[in-house]
Amino acid sequence: MILINQESNSLKMANDNTVNSKVVDIIGMGGHAAVVSDILELNNFLIAGYYADKEPDRDHPRIKAWRGDIQYLKLNTMSFNFKSKTQLWICAIGNNEVRRRIVNFVAQGWGKTIYPPHFKWITAIHPRSIISKSATIGPGTVVSAGAIINARAVIGQHCIINSGAIIEHHTKIGDFSHIAPGSVLCGHVIIGQNCLIGAGTTIIPKISIADNVTIGAGSTVIQNITEAGTYIGSPINRRLVTIDKTDT
Ligand SMILES: CC(C)(COP(=O)(O)OP(=O)(O)OC[C@H]1O[C@@H](n2cnc3c(N)ncnc32)[C@H](O)[C@@H]1OP(=O)(O)O)[C@@H](O)C(=O)NCCC(=O)NCCS
Repeated sequence: MILINQESNSLKMANDNTVNSKVVDIIGMGGHAAVVSDILELNNFLIAGYYADKEPDRDHPRIKAWRGDIQYLKLNTMSFNFKSKTQLWICAIGNNEVRRRIVNFVAQGWGKTIYPPHFKWITAIHPRSIISKSATIGPGTVVSAGAIINARAVIGQHCIINSGAIIEHHTKIGDFSHIAPGSVLCGHVIIGQNCLIGAGTTIIPKISIADNVTIGAGSTVIQNITEAGTYIGSPINRRLVTIDKTDT
């Protein structure tokens, strides 16, 4: 965990041997990556390039719309074919599980040989979000426009706190979880890792949700959820499937 207001110090560190302390590489080229690009540009970052999950058609207008260099990231083999010197990175993949696998891959091996010095996952915080000074936000996490993170909330690493989501005081969000737009998580809620809390969900105070849980859009959670799976209803009244994400 890092305090968000420590990011500027880290940027200064990264600047020790680089020309520009606010150059970032983005993994992903989907809708979430577009949002993350916007947030970073609003924070005056320069985007060096993107990593796509397939060889991009560089003449296609949609591809041309992306600024910066584009490289091919082979997701199936987890092979990065780049020689980036960029020190600041963000994994802007919306799918929690894919994001987790890429981040873990980077942590486990890729870095040993070709990590640039001072490699760092950065946070992307929209300037029009509201974040308590007593909240903590882990590296790699994205906070979108209009999100509110209240006092002493603890947000893990590589999470997505999406547009207009409200994370109330003392609530904890596990690593790689996504709180979708417009969700309201009341005080002292605990969300596990790799969870998707669907758009517009309400969770009453002091509820705990296990790892690898998906809550359907528009649900209301009034009881703890202790097993992985997909749950729907307002209040929750149905479990759709069990998701086993323990393989890697
Ligand atoms: C819950 C969810 C994951 C289920 O997806 P799925 O496994 O593909 O399920 P299906 O669409 O096949 O629907 C299965 C059943 O659940 C119902 N259902 C699906 N989502 C529901 C929801 N959010 N609320 C109530 N019922 C829902 C369907 O009507 C269907 O009912 P039936 O069996 O009686 O016909 C998905 O509908 C959802 O809500 N995802 C969250 C999306 C979101 O907020 N993303 C954030 C983007 S920023």
